Amino acid sequence: MVHAGVTGWGKCLPPAVLSNADLATFLDTSDEWISSRTGIHERRISHVGLTELARVAAQRALAAANLDPAALELIVFGTTSFDDQAPNQASGLQQQLGAVRAAAMDVNTACTSFLYAWSTANALIRTGVVRNALVVGGEVISRFMDWNNRNVAVLFGDGCAALVLEACDRDEGLLGEKLGCDVGGRDALVIQGMGSRYADFERRYGVTNWIFDGQEIFRRAVIGMSQASVEVLAAHGISGDQLDLIVPHQANLRIIEAVAKRLDMPMERVFVNLQHYGNMSAATVPVALVEAVEAGRIKPGALLLLPAFGAGLTWCAHLVRWGARTVPLRESDACLPPAPHTALELVQALIRQRC
Ligand code: UT7
Repeated sequence: MVHAGVTGWGKCLPPAVLSNADLATFLDTSDEWISSRTGIHERRISHVGLTELARVAAQRALAAANLDPAALELIVFGTTSFDDQAPNQASGLQQQLGAVRAAAMDVNTACTSFLYAWSTANALIRTGVVRNALVVGGEVISRFMDWNNRNVAVLFGDGCAALVLEACDRDEGLLGEKLGCDVGGRDALVIQGMGSRYADFERRYGVTNWIFDGQEIFRRAVIGMSQASVEVLAAHGISGDQLDLIVPHQANLRIIEAVAKRLDMPMERVFVNLQHYGNMSAATVPVALVEAVEAGRIKPGALLLLPAFGAGLTWCAHLVRWGARTVPLRESDACLPPAPHTALELVQALIRQRC
């Protein structure tokens, strides 16, 4: 049976850092409130578009796998904040990479988009349609943020990361997943202003209004992530103590702690990096995975659980066996142009544009 092992990984975080104190200069909030309620201390604001962030992350991932972009057969891009709706985000990245042979598709399930994209690429490799794939999770959510709404503006950030998957005969990569959508919670998180219903002269596409019931999302997220985890573990006969690391969606430290408690997992075996980045939606899990590898928290052959939730309310849990290699085959020198403005200046410009 063909498997789809992870052979490359790379991330790209925009350099401009927006602190909680920066947010408190224009919102009625405080570092104390944000830190204690969410665990978030700072987040990144991108000075470039999503295609550019993804190009750097992808070039780093391809170098780590030592895979020529021209040999790439598929790009699956998980995002909700694409640069263009048509042509899609994946083909924009394909063009930048020179991946001329690749098929290119986007997947949008909000914060779970990267994991659903991984499921898609995994299935296409395991059924022999393609032999390799680049799976990307990236967002420039700052451009769609309602920066006047403290309920949401303090929670999110920009970023991108990518994995290379290649067909192999070892039992590794995505071993199994549980996917679902708690549609009863669909109205708890709606970003008005991002769809075709807003493409008229009265309303301005991209000028968003976030409908956001934090407590309802919180409650449903804990249930969805925990149940998906329990089901995927049971389906594969895996007990919690066999897991080496949980790499969850990073929305709120309290959500992560509640899920770990339900799964009876000590926090020492849970990877958390949301203090630095906030919720990067589709980018959270792949950035966390890349950082866990870089920090030596993922050893060769490690067994990983990746639970996540997002608007919809989509939920999922992925069971992954990392391969034998945790060191890149090559390093890429790809990088972003320097940011000409501070994060606060970038946000202030976005606020002015909304007026
Ligand atoms: O990936 C999907 C994205 N969605 C999520 O991750 C949302 C999940 N939910 C959460 O993370 C939490 O529910 C929040 C962090 C959003 C809120 O935490 P909470 O402990 O549920 O707070 P709350 O909504 O109950 O609000 C408590 C108080 C309210 O004031 P009153 O009514 O008690 O006077 C809010 O108005 O905190 C107030 N508040 C704030 N205060 C300062 C809400 N946002 C802020 C803020 N700064 N940024």
